[in-house]
Amino acid sequence: MGYSIAIDGPAGAGKSTIAKKVAAKKGCCYVDTGAIYRAMAYFLLENGVKGEETDRIAKKCQEANIRVAYEAGEQQVFLNGENVNSKIRTEEVGQMASKSAAVPQVRSWLIDLQRDLAVTQDVIMDGRDIGTCVLPQATVKIYLTASADVRAKRRYDEYCAKGMDCDYEEILNTVKKRDMQDMTRAIAPLKQADDAVLLDTSDLSIEEVVDRILEICAEKG
Ligand code: C5P
Repeated sequence: MGYSIAIDGPAGAGKSTIAKKVAAKKGCCYVDTGAIYRAMAYFLLENGVKGEETDRIAKKCQEANIRVAYEAGEQQVFLNGENVNSKIRTEEVGQMASKSAAVPQVRSWLIDLQRDLAVTQDVIMDGRDIGTCVLPQATVKIYLTASADVRAKRRYDEYCAKGMDCDYEEILNTVKKRDMQDMTRAIAPLKQADDAVLLDTSDLSIEEVVDRILEICAEKG
């Protein structure tokens, strides 16, 4: 395994924005593992499977062949040969990802794919269980968080900027629901690894967070 930075934390903590910037500065590859779970969720939704149908999810997930490739540093996720990047960024897919990711067969189906990506290249990988399960030997581990209000506000601003119609209270409820699902599931729940550095980004700018992570990387060598 090469050099690896694991970033875990709840939805909307800023993991992908921050990780992309750190990747550019460190010259390593940014791996977004949420997109992998989202591709699986998209596959299940397309096949008419519901989040509550855990037995069907456990069986059906094995028909999803998910692969990741990098084009000009941008991660592309392929589902049974189709690039699904533009289809997985919806709230519906996010909620389904959170439900299906709690099914053990889904996690074991997807874990080797994530680990393999860190074998051949230096990575900064973000998700929920990177420091605790996927890359327990990661060189640097960060647990990135922010208050639920701040995370919901960021998401609200993001949707508004894209001209999407949205409601702040509804987003806040979705954020809290996803936190609850991800933190309380039996397998690989979202939690801070014992050796991870906690970074609360509620009152920090993106640049401040990036600088802090680069400092932590320098300290850990
Ligand atoms: O990070 P993102 O919001 O794209 O992730 C979608 C969902 O996928 C999360 O809510 C979580 O349930 C699941 N996930 C996971 N483990 C990861 C990454 C994502 O369980 N490493």
